[in-house]
Amino acid sequence: MSIYKQILEEKGKIYALSPMEDVTDTVFRQILCDIGRPDLFFTEFMSTDGYMSKGRDKVSHRLKFTKRERPIVFQLWGNHPENYSGTVKDIIKYSLDGIDINIGCSVRTVINSGHCSALIKEPVLVKEIINAVKTEAKDIPVSVKTRLGYDELITEEWFSFLLEQDLDLITVHGRISKQGYDEPADWDEIAKVVKLRDMISPTTVILGNGDIADLNMADEYIDKYGVDGVMIGRAVMQNPWVFANRGRIPKDERLSVLKKHLELFKDTWEGVKPFNTQKKYIKMYIGNFEGSSELRMKLMKCNESEEALDIIREII
Ligand SMILES: Cc1cc2nc3c(=O)[nH]c(=O)nc-3n(C[C@H](O)[C@H](O)[C@H](O)COP(=O)(O)O)c2cc1C
Repeated sequence: MSIYKQILEEKGKIYALSPMEDVTDTVFRQILCDIGRPDLFFTEFMSTDGYMSKGRDKVSHRLKFTKRERPIVFQLWGNHPENYSGTVKDIIKYSLDGIDINIGCSVRTVINSGHCSALIKEPVLVKEIINAVKTEAKDIPVSVKTRLGYDELITEEWFSFLLEQDLDLITVHGRISKQGYDEPADWDEIAKVVKLRDMISPTTVILGNGDIADLNMADEYIDKYGVDGVMIGRAVMQNPWVFANRGRIPKDERLSVLKKHLELFKDTWEGVKPFNTQKKYIKMYIGNFEGSSELRMKLMKCNESEEALDIIREII
């Protein structure tokens, strides 16, 4: 039984953390394990072309994880089936729980080169990619994260096709590729995918994605739209405690979580990722208490983790 079915059997629903490039790395995921974790983690998306090139080290850091972060799904992107084969053949040596194919990212540079959501226009190639991954993944579950269409809604056509590929899980981001975040995700269309699933491939697990703000909304949408679970992205950047479903988080707790985060960053990434990449987390943790904006501004001016840690140590 796939890990997705196991979670469903135990809990009746799945709360997953969205893959978010440069946000949901091993350090942040470990912090979430401490403060309130999802049922399922995804890695940031990793290029299969990059992994199969001399530049492997430049992309493979995205696959770093610790045992605590399991169950964890590795997310891959690319448009060469042979590079998916080569990548999957190699990465199955890690104790991963699933492999996800990104057919959803709509960043211009990525789609202009025919990757990710641009693949919605290439079902023949998508079939080859899925088959390449499934062949090498052996008994590791294979999934796809995608949108409702490329430049127009093609929910029925696109998901009927995907549901015929015998996937373990499909995540549906309720937007088309050409749509920014300004318009709300279309959950009525996500509900149509659930109906198609019931007809075409009842064993495929469906996660809905788009604009879920907290676990109360997650539960409401799971009930209302019939999905097996939800994937939560930006809300975790607004509130890293989103999976804990708690009220106001006190100042000292916020500071000690940032401290732990920066210490883990030093141990994990110093010399690999610049300190500037950590400033988004300062914004996430430091807020909602008296004096938080002044403290945040002070921390944002730091040039290295030790400098920020010194400021925190003076307070807690
Ligand atoms: C900073 C950022 C990075 C993202 N990186 C990825 C990624 O690597 N892979 C992916 O499938 N989606 C990526 N996404 C899309 C999210 O996973 C998610 O589908 C989208 O934000 C909608 O969900 P939300 O409304 O809960 O944020 C990214 C989104 C953001 C904001």
